[in-house]
Amino acid sequence: MIDGFGRTIDYVRISVTDRCDLRCVYCMPETGMAWLPHAKILRYEDILRLAGVFVSLGIVNFKITGGEPLVRTGVETLISGIRAMDGVRSVTLTTNGVRLAEKLPALLDAGIDGINLSLDTLDPARYAALTRRGALPEALRGLEAALAVPGLNLKLNCVAMAGGEGDWAALAALAKERAVAVRFIEPMPIGPGQRLAPCGEDAVRAVLEAEYGPMTPCGGPAGNGPCRYFSLPGFAGKIGFISAVSHKFCAGCNRVRLTSTGFLKTCLQYDVGADLAPLLSGTDDALRAAIETAILHKPEAHQFPAGDVQNRERRTMSQIGG
Ligand code: GTP
Ligand code: 5AD
Ligand code: SF4
Repeated sequence: MIDGFGRTIDYVRISVTDRCDLRCVYCMPETGMAWLPHAKILRYEDILRLAGVFVSLGIVNFKITGGEPLVRTGVETLISGIRAMDGVRSVTLTTNGVRLAEKLPALLDAGIDGINLSLDTLDPARYAALTRRGALPEALRGLEAALAVPGLNLKLNCVAMAGGEGDWAALAALAKERAVAVRFIEPMPIGPGQRLAPCGEDAVRAVLEAEYGPMTPCGGPAGNGPCRYFSLPGFAGKIGFISAVSHKFCAGCNRVRLTSTGFLKTCLQYDVGADLAPLLSGTDDALRAAIETAILHKPEAHQFPAGDVQNRERRTMSQIGG
């Protein structure tokens, strides 16, 4: 459907849980979070019903997120259910990779169309420090399992942080031999991300170009998201930048978000949209009307790097799904 600023909205990010087995510094407080009570989290049958309503409004691409979506039992059943709906073009997943090796066969059976794996460093000590809970070998097992699947659409996400300069060239090197996309994300001022020093794409680009030579923009379709892709000489894969601060992409935004409690968020930075949970006891038409109204009022843009804005989102990224 078309929003109030003429943008086509055809993509929804569905967070299936706020829980996570990691505590990344830019995402969750060190002490962890009070998890949302089970009774507040949408059941899979409710999410499937909402997915059907989204499809009827022209949503064709679905992203499954968390927290960490693979910590919720049976997520592959949800994925296959959405994948089987007429009109759905893609169902993809964003994961921290910790449980990926074990879950990958079920995800592939479910028809997953792509996997994004968060990996901020290849240094074991830094990985432990940044995720506060994680052990690099677990994430690497997930990465290797995904790389071993021929033709899988695999992307890596690295939140580029000041102090991480030493990580970037090694991460980018993963795209040298393999057709994987290595993407660098500018930190966004949401939750603990508000305390991070800014780190723009230019800093990453300078490090990569010094190491590997000049980057050139990739032609062809850019994918479903805000990422801009580049090639490096001799690289099989691509380098991507998701630069919400230095290259604001709101004018081309195609998406809305559904939190695990059923709140339809229409922009990452604001707590605006529609709470669909109370409407689940009513008709699909009522749900459709609420979604349409929310999308019509989708904000024009975020105001990053400013974090303290009117209607500021108070959820953390783990409660939103990124
Ligand atoms: P693909 O369609 O697979 O390319 O997905 P994606 O890059 O949109 O999703 P992913 O879950 O991998 O998110 C990567 C980063 O992009 C995360 O930091 C998200 O928070 C960020 N991101 C995704 N969508 C938006 C958006 O609409 N606005 C902003 N500001 N950031 C976004
Ligand atoms: N800024 C930018 N990206 C973030 N992510 C989580 N928190 C932030 C933040 N504050 C990323 C994760 C993951 C994706 C879903 O969102 O690293 O790759
Ligand atoms: Fe978990 Fe992802 Fe948040 Fe890290 S960024 S704590 S992996 S939800």
